[in-house]
Amino acid sequence: MQILGVDIGGSGIKGAIVDTLTGELVTERLRIGTPQPATPEAIAAVLAQLVLHFNWNGPVGCGFPAAIQQGVVRTAANISKSFIGADIDKLFSDATNCDCHNLNDADAAGMAEMHFGEGAGQAGVVLLVTIGTGLGTALFTDGNLLPNTELGHLYLENGLEAERYASDAARKLEDLGWKSWGNRFNIYLSTMEKLFWPDLIILGGGASKKFDKFKTQLAVNTPVKPAAFLNQAGIVGAAFYAKSKVI
Ligand code: BGC
Repeated sequence: MQILGVDIGGSGIKGAIVDTLTGELVTERLRIGTPQPATPEAIAAVLAQLVLHFNWNGPVGCGFPAAIQQGVVRTAANISKSFIGADIDKLFSDATNCDCHNLNDADAAGMAEMHFGEGAGQAGVVLLVTIGTGLGTALFTDGNLLPNTELGHLYLENGLEAERYASDAARKLEDLGWKSWGNRFNIYLSTMEKLFWPDLIILGGGASKKFDKFKTQLAVNTPVKPAAFLNQAGIVGAAFYAKSKVI
């Protein structure tokens, strides 16, 4: 089954048609810059553009950077606060004339990794952390997702919110080298390890491509792997999620 998968981020909105049996992209990826201000209506208009570009009239799955309950946005750490309370399943479906199914972006990336990537066949507890503007998390037990874990907002023992201390945005903002940022990220992963005892940690998002530059700083006992899907995890996972809503 083919589904249009979309990854909605703070700087870009990316989409492609996905074969949900294999996890492969059937088309090229299209990226449209996130409109500013990124209001619900402006994002809905970009989705309509994507649907038109792919000449699509089937289901759509969207990964969105917030906690989402039954299509309603509950948080807004790095997006316009005007999203809070918005029913984006309805808003995006109305704007595109397609059935749109939204889930948290890190949960989407995690679903792709669990079904087609580094987490495939992995029993026990798997924690996926996406490292980007925010720190996103997806938590699985025996392949089942506990949705909307917002563990990037946890406060560390140093009193700082993890996302502000150890995200890729913090690295850029404070102009940190990969090793000193890696030391910070190690504090975050060690905290996660102590609290959740995962059997495997998967790192996704932009910074995971630089895994070789900071892996020596990671001192956790849990095996840590960079995600198999780099740019595509959100798109593939969102499409996979939408499939589960359709059939
Ligand atoms: C948001 C999460 C999101 C993560 C990655 C965080 O700021 O609260 O919902 O998954 O950023 O985009």
